[in-house]
Amino acid sequence: MSKPVLVSGIQPTGKLHIGNFLGALKNFVTLQNLDEYDCFFFIADLHSLTENFDPKEKHDQIVNVAADYLAAGLNPKKSVIFQQSEVPAHSELAIILNNFASIGEMKRMTQFKDKSKSQAENVNMGLFDYPVLMAADVFLYDAAVVPIGEDQTQHLELARTLVRKFNAKFGETFIEPEPILTEAKRIMSLDDPTKKMSKSRPQGCLFLDDEPDVIRKKIQRAVTDSGNEITYDPERKPALSNLMNIYENMADIRIDEIKKKFQGKGYGDFKKGLAEIIVQALAPFQEKKRKFLANPDIIKKTLAAGNKKASLIADKKIKEVKEKIGLSLD
Ligand code: TYM
Repeated sequence: MSKPVLVSGIQPTGKLHIGNFLGALKNFVTLQNLDEYDCFFFIADLHSLTENFDPKEKHDQIVNVAADYLAAGLNPKKSVIFQQSEVPAHSELAIILNNFASIGEMKRMTQFKDKSKSQAENVNMGLFDYPVLMAADVFLYDAAVVPIGEDQTQHLELARTLVRKFNAKFGETFIEPEPILTEAKRIMSLDDPTKKMSKSRPQGCLFLDDEPDVIRKKIQRAVTDSGNEITYDPERKPALSNLMNIYENMADIRIDEIKKKFQGKGYGDFKKGLAEIIVQALAPFQEKKRKFLANPDIIKKTLAAGNKKASLIADKKIKEVKEKIGLSLD
């Protein structure tokens, strides 16, 4: 029997931060290695055009995310790793699905509302249509599960609505995808625990590529709450609890063990310990990434092979969709 399909992607919009890693990428690798799913991981380059970009940088950003994937442990022998724009069925299906997405529902998307404020000078159609393209990304492969951070769950809910609408009208065609969230589904900004860690606020990000000394400095400067005791209390100590979440998921240990380890010690000791945990956890990743980036040909070949595999499946699905909606003359 075939395995359930898992699909997810990350935008190439600059460097990945530990929110992307703990909320998504680390989990991609864990899920891939379970061998329970047929995995597809892509670089969401079309999605990344929704914000201002420089074409000269885009190429490097795509290669960079591919290197992140490979260095983190995504394996082209186990997963199909590809570039979204190289599989035209993604764009085609998004155009078709647009006709079943209601403007009222799209206007309610939190990310669209937030980005309409943060990039008020560039509120474009791509930004508005972002969740429909996401739906196309997962429908093409009949994804049953989609590992994402919490900020993307509303988009997946919209995708599920689209499945129901489409299937009711044209017969069983798509599967309703379920999100897979991690415990670190929402890592907060280092400078403000009320805001999500996000590439659009680089001052609060810890990047996967940050050098050990930069990591130490950033953790040292991270805001903390009043008091000095190491206790986990997201309501009253949101900043410390966020740092403890990062510790827990970087070191793969339980919050209880962290509390025990830092009993009787203060924020200073905890932050020093946390910085070393992050430095150690990222060292092998950074080393592997450097090797991949020194060999961009391997990256490009890996993506080219993945693009082919993904296209075979996606093209079949788009054909099926066209037949269902009456566009096929065969
Ligand atoms: P992107 O590149 O913005 O984010 C990549 C992944 O990182 C997660 N994430 C976080 N998780 C925890 N804490 C944070 N602070 C944090 N910030 C980001 C995101 O939830 C995401 O899982 N729209 C997607 C890309 C995409 C996609 C898809 C995903 C395009 N098509 C189809 C799944 C299926 C995105 O947010 O990328």
